[in-house]
Amino acid sequence: MALPSKVKIVEVSPRDGLQNEAKKVSTRIKIELIRRLGECGLKSIEATAFVSAKWVPQMADAAKVMAGLSPLPGVSYPVLTPNLRGLEAAIAAGAREVAVFGAASEAFSQKNINCSIAESLERFRPMVAAAKEADVKVRGYVSCVLGCPYQGDVAPNAVAEFAHALFDMGCYEVSLGDTIGCGSPEKTKIMIEAVARRVPLKKIAAHFHDTWGMAIVNIYAALQLGVSVFDSSVAGLGGCPFAPGAAGNVATEDLVWLLNGLGIDPGIDLEKLVDTGAWISKELGHEPVSRVARAALARRAAGTL
Ligand code: HMG
Ligand code: MG
Repeated sequence: MALPSKVKIVEVSPRDGLQNEAKKVSTRIKIELIRRLGECGLKSIEATAFVSAKWVPQMADAAKVMAGLSPLPGVSYPVLTPNLRGLEAAIAAGAREVAVFGAASEAFSQKNINCSIAESLERFRPMVAAAKEADVKVRGYVSCVLGCPYQGDVAPNAVAEFAHALFDMGCYEVSLGDTIGCGSPEKTKIMIEAVARRVPLKKIAAHFHDTWGMAIVNIYAALQLGVSVFDSSVAGLGGCPFAPGAAGNVATEDLVWLLNGLGIDPGIDLEKLVDTGAWISKELGHEPVSRVARAALARRAAGTL
């Protein structure tokens, strides 16, 4: 299949990127990160999560983050909501798009949201209905699509089943998460083909963590199947507190470089993005893990082409 001519990037650094940071990140820095990401041209920026502060302390300031966002034309700020309480709080804080999140692995579902797969779907149904009522869009996440830290292999059909349930209840898009970054291009293809038999390809997004360094080739495999929505995180920030050892998301800089090289213009200012990644990494006391960012910064420092 020909590669898609247009690709949408969902920037998840303010949520996935920061949720696992050990050191508290101030609300001011989070808001500034989101502002800078908007200036880079990103149109969908996952801003925060209305989850339990006991479970994820880093997201405790969700409402304050929302209060500090500036509306930008064509830019949406989706947020994660684990239950009705989270949904109501998100809507009260001004969210116009939310995401429910479950897993294709029973063990991970229990660890992450403290309920079974079946219970999670029962929890999400009234949420999606209430969101629709409030004219709020709902995205769905499936975690552990290529493997689970507690259960090992996850069957592609289990992923397809869960993705279909989310789509069927009204999620406008389903993001398939390789939460622990253990996938390979071949496994990615098999899993996406299984999902695409149950969910229209245009409604599928892919979300790769880069633990084993395969995220960018997995994206290439997904692109070849026609997937056109990818989640990524500036500077490769990210990780899930309930998936120990998992690395960050694929770096947005690397994804943009890949797309530019393929002649697919994602509409992002790469130089500004590299600056944003360098800035937030410095604030957090890390080096950017993005290979593209490191190369771009080294090239700048050397003054070479
Ligand atoms: P629970 O303990 O089963 O539920 O947690 P509960 O109803 O007994 O509530 C526990 C406490 O949380 C109570 O406080 C509630 O009031 C409070 P207490 O009475 O003990 O003081 N609470 C809340 N507080 C704020 N907002 C809420 C809320 N709900 C309850 N919405 C629950 C169940 C789902 C709440 C919990 O398990 C939770 O918050 N989990 C979130 C886990 C999470 O955020 N994980 C990371 C995001 S998922 C991810 O990273 C994967 C993804 O990137 C894709 C991929 O990579 O695969 C999306
Ligand atoms: Mg993730």
